[in-house]
Amino acid sequence: MTRVEIMVLMVLFEGLFSAGALSDNSTIPALVNIGVLYSFNTSVGKMVKTAVEAAVEDVNSDPSILPQTKLKLSMQEDTKYRGFLSIAEALQLMATQTVAIIGPQTSTTAHVISHIANELQVPLLSFTATDPTLSSLQFPFFIRTAFSDVYEMTAIADLVNYFQWREVIAVYGDDDHGRNGMGALGDKLAERRCKISFKAPMTPEATREEITDVLVQVALAESRVIVLHTSTAWGPKVLSVAKSLGMMENGYVWITTTFLSTWLDIHSPLSPDATNDMQGVIALRMYVPDSKLKRWFISRWTNITTSGKNGNGTLGLSTYGIFAYDTVFALAHALDAFFKRGNQITFSHDPKLSQIRGDNMHLDAVKIFNEGNLLRKHIYEVNMTGVSGLFKYDSDGNLVNPAYEIINVIGTGTRRIGYWSNYTGLSIVPPETLYSKPPNRSSASQNLLPVFWPGETTQKPRGWVFPNNGRMLKIGVPKRVSYRDFVSQVQGTDMFKGFCIDVFLSAVNLLPYAVPYKFVPYGDGDSNPSNTELVRLITADVFDAAVGDITITTERTKMVDFTQPYIESGLVVVASVKKTDSNAWAFFKPFTPMMWAVTAIFFLLVGAVVWILEHRLNDDFRGTPKQQMVTILWFSFSTMFFAHRENTVSSLGRFVLLIWLFVVLIINSSYTASLTSILTVQQLSSPVKGIDSLINSKEPIGYLQGSFTRTYLIEEIGIDESRLVPLKTPEETATALKNGPQKGGVAAYVDERAYIELFLSSRCDFSIVGQEFTRNGWGFAFPRDSPLAVDLSTAILELAENGDLQRIHDKWLLSSACLSQGAKLEVDRLKLRSFWGLYLVCGLACVIALLIYLIQTMRQYSKHGPEELESSGNGSGSSRLRTFLSFVDEKEEIVKSRVKRKKIEGMSYRSTREVGSSITSNKGFSQASSNRIDSATEI
Ligand code: SER
Repeated sequence: MTRVEIMVLMVLFEGLFSAGALSDNSTIPALVNIGVLYSFNTSVGKMVKTAVEAAVEDVNSDPSILPQTKLKLSMQEDTKYRGFLSIAEALQLMATQTVAIIGPQTSTTAHVISHIANELQVPLLSFTATDPTLSSLQFPFFIRTAFSDVYEMTAIADLVNYFQWREVIAVYGDDDHGRNGMGALGDKLAERRCKISFKAPMTPEATREEITDVLVQVALAESRVIVLHTSTAWGPKVLSVAKSLGMMENGYVWITTTFLSTWLDIHSPLSPDATNDMQGVIALRMYVPDSKLKRWFISRWTNITTSGKNGNGTLGLSTYGIFAYDTVFALAHALDAFFKRGNQITFSHDPKLSQIRGDNMHLDAVKIFNEGNLLRKHIYEVNMTGVSGLFKYDSDGNLVNPAYEIINVIGTGTRRIGYWSNYTGLSIVPPETLYSKPPNRSSASQNLLPVFWPGETTQKPRGWVFPNNGRMLKIGVPKRVSYRDFVSQVQGTDMFKGFCIDVFLSAVNLLPYAVPYKFVPYGDGDSNPSNTELVRLITADVFDAAVGDITITTERTKMVDFTQPYIESGLVVVASVKKTDSNAWAFFKPFTPMMWAVTAIFFLLVGAVVWILEHRLNDDFRGTPKQQMVTILWFSFSTMFFAHRENTVSSLGRFVLLIWLFVVLIINSSYTASLTSILTVQQLSSPVKGIDSLINSKEPIGYLQGSFTRTYLIEEIGIDESRLVPLKTPEETATALKNGPQKGGVAAYVDERAYIELFLSSRCDFSIVGQEFTRNGWGFAFPRDSPLAVDLSTAILELAENGDLQRIHDKWLLSSACLSQGAKLEVDRLKLRSFWGLYLVCGLACVIALLIYLIQTMRQYSKHGPEELESSGNGSGSSRLRTFLSFVDEKEEIVKSRVKRKKIEGMSYRSTREVGSSITSNKGFSQASSNRIDSATEI
């Protein structure tokens, strides 16, 4: 199927579905003027001219588009394609009553002539002016018929992110195209937490010398990822200078915008040494999906360039040529629709321009295209399948489905390493195959083929180098005088050791590249240096980094970048503590007096309730009032040990008892647990309870000399400076704490937990009081945006995950906790002093009971005994005692015989009771009997 046949079919379909088309043949002109403003002496200009002419030829010979109208091209050379001359050239074109202008070639010209287009209402259709800011509302008559650079910059930002670089250098022509393109790149990089670290603008069409000056600056910068955004006319020269400066070597990354692919395509087939200066460069090319129409156009292009009137066979076709061809067709479709709706083309004088008529500028020749705005709308409504694929605008005035090919210059040609589309980002399959699937921009779905980088390597460049390449990094290390396990200088050498140093060395070992560094001690060796000052020296370029026990604080993060923390270390308060021993009345402590009182009341209450519920049915709760009172008391309190012997026979009684026994169970176990802990766990006491009690007191507070703690306590907590006492060493700290404020010491000591753990490991008289009140950590400090800090952070996380960090910690910091075994044992063994109160109560009870018993017996003896004693006729002391004892024995016999008798009575009583009630148990009977025995004994 030929190109014309395809178009005829499409128009037929369009005709079928377009409703309400009006056509008044009398108003349709036979000729429509279209201007073309390009620099035809440039390679791009030549290609555009060829493509546009071919398109006009095809439109004019196609009966399905503009059947009654022929397009006529007015070619205007944009000699310098910028500035004032372009304005004059545009005006000249518009004086020929063009309905639209194809062009201009550059964004710079587009910016200036868009103002004229606005005034004269002539649409500008450009596929090479890709500056994103041209799409602004300021320029409604500028219509881009290719992809905006905003998509190209998104693609580059995605590439940078894909290869995990964080910073790039932007090299660009300092014009509207370059500046605004880099603005868009900066925005897109920022969205991916990357940035342009250095902008290197160049004069447009810079000379080799100017380019050299700029690239020397670029070579001194830290980043090695260079984004080059210039024009086809002089961009390749930048790469050639870079090659001569050794900037196409291993470690460099060059990403270029579409100018390079255009240059390569137009100069194709390339001479063998054409790509010598650009080996390993990555370039973007606007993507045109494969189609029959595209294949047809490529063969047509070959025909034109080899046999046509321009044919010398050296003009390659770039995607800009394809978009040039489609631009003419889009305009033709728009005009077609414009005429079909009965519109006419009319021009009129601009009243504002008319006012300045009569001058020497002949501005009266320039007229307003009255229906320009209507044609502009028709262009945005075009929906056709062109050589470039679907040609249709979205609501923002951008072509739909923007996509790029990512190519890699290798050998004498290029290799496609993937695609980028606004739909799914980077992929190795053509974007059109993905449009039918849901969009997926997850990092796992981003893919590219391996890249051949500058320096003939396939290994991904790191993307940055140490500043002032080759010089060793000067790493400042604090010369600590205390807690030297963390970091200390090896005596007589310039080497350092300690926990922090081991962490740093292990992390550096995990980096995939060598880090040249030397440690430089910081501090006088007499006192601990201030880490804040050490960090400040990084900003003053005295040190390139700092390694040590450097706490990450807000103040410091404002100056430098820290790695991830490799140890957590918040601030804590340490104070002297005394052991509080349990005393003889400790058994009261588990419950408060109120608890004791309520418990006791409940015992009585439950006893009374059970008595009420039982005494009608249950003999155990019967008897004389006194007996019943005793039963209630005895019953209540014996439930404490589940030792009550009285049976409960009523359902209500049983219910109450069941609940109560459960309560007793809980109370008992709680009491036991609480008492155990009171008696066995060491109770430490200190008047200082934590940071809050320190804030509220006026006593002196110690802190580690040189530490950020001082600033923190003054500025954040608001403690008066006069209360703070600097303490250099753990020994000094221990003495100050022991002396206390009374003897010129301190009430408490505030420091980071990491140091305190070491401090307390051998000092049991002190303890952390209260909570850790900050959540700090230690990190290594680097200059702002240092990529080494990022890589070391990753390495530290790896150390944490593989357990090495813990092993290093254990090697340096795992010391015996504060426990002397003897002391511990002593604490666990209970002493008499905790219990003598109990024994005293019990002993007193025994004594009182015995005394009462003695008094009762004596009283009985005095009632009955003397006569019996007299009758025995023995008056000596020992015989009196014997007589008294035999009296007691006799009494016991009497009691026993009474008990026996009572038992028998009880049995007969029970057998009579059983007739009426069978619920009294044997146990109940025996208990009832024993109650009676008790009362008998008392008689
Ligand atoms: N870690 C504390 C600080 O960084 C003491 O060295 O200030």
